[in-house]
Amino acid sequence: MPDKRQIAASFSRAAPTYDSAAAFQREVGERLLNLLPVSPASEEWRKNAVVEEGAGEKVQSWLDIGCGSGHFTRLLAARYPKSQGYALDIAQGMLHHAKSQGGAEHWIAADAENLPFSEGSFDLLFSNLCLQWCKNLEQVLSEAGRTLRPGGLLAFTSLASGTLAELNAAWQAADHFTHVNRFRAFAGYQAICRASDFKLHHLSCHAELHHYPTLRKLTGELKALGAHNLSPNRPPGLGGRARFAAMTRAYQQKQCAKGLPATWQVVYAVLGKAT
Ligand SMILES: C[S@@+](CC[C@H](N)C(=O)[O-])C[C@H]1O[C@@H](n2cnc3c(N)ncnc32)[C@H](O)[C@@H]1O
Repeated sequence: MPDKRQIAASFSRAAPTYDSAAAFQREVGERLLNLLPVSPASEEWRKNAVVEEGAGEKVQSWLDIGCGSGHFTRLLAARYPKSQGYALDIAQGMLHHAKSQGGAEHWIAADAENLPFSEGSFDLLFSNLCLQWCKNLEQVLSEAGRTLRPGGLLAFTSLASGTLAELNAAWQAADHFTHVNRFRAFAGYQAICRASDFKLHHLSCHAELHHYPTLRKLTGELKALGAHNLSPNRPPGLGGRARFAAMTRAYQQKQCAKGLPATWQVVYAVLGKAT
């Protein structure tokens, strides 16, 4: 796992460019939002509901964990207009950027593994594509359980192993360094969630295949998101031209009519605290 200060610095640097590269992140978060209860429940929501009707409907206070540029903070505020909204991120730069656009009453620079809130503070914890950066998911769930009120919901998306497998394989053909962030296996998410005190309303993993016109487009997008490689075993410097060229040759063997493929393994979870 990368060092937290490096994660914070990388996302802070990416704050001005994040939104321009985050179309996929928004799609994923919107799918998560659609799994959450709405009040009053629409026919459409009832059809696809993963949470029994009534559960988690009355949201008086919510927290967006790893709010990034605040896109979902603003959507949560619009969805729960009479509630108290909190947004938290480890990267000060992201938090500043998000705060300037509004959405929450409270903005907190903190770590998802160590929530600075007292017991039973929230009805809903929402987290889109942040928890893959947390080494200790058990601790995140324990903190979520502590800060939720009875009957509250923790809804999160994250990334599982197999994400950017094509880029990883291409780099492996070029050298022995780690160039792609490591992700927990979906089986690990399942084991940790099942061992927690939460009721599992929904837990699934979906492979999303994207195509990029060039490799630069993919690596540029990861950089703009602040999500490029931060692994402790990454190569010193830029990795060297020769190695980058070898990786490019290996990746280009996967070229198809749509472009260069890149897989994302996305985990969707809605967990409930007992009443
Ligand atoms: C990929 S961005 C997602 C941002 C936002 N949720 C969205 O959907 O657009 C991940 C965010 O998680 C934050 N983050 C990473 N590790 C964190 C941690 N341990 N605690 C809190 N935030 C963290 C990063 O700073 C970054 O802003």
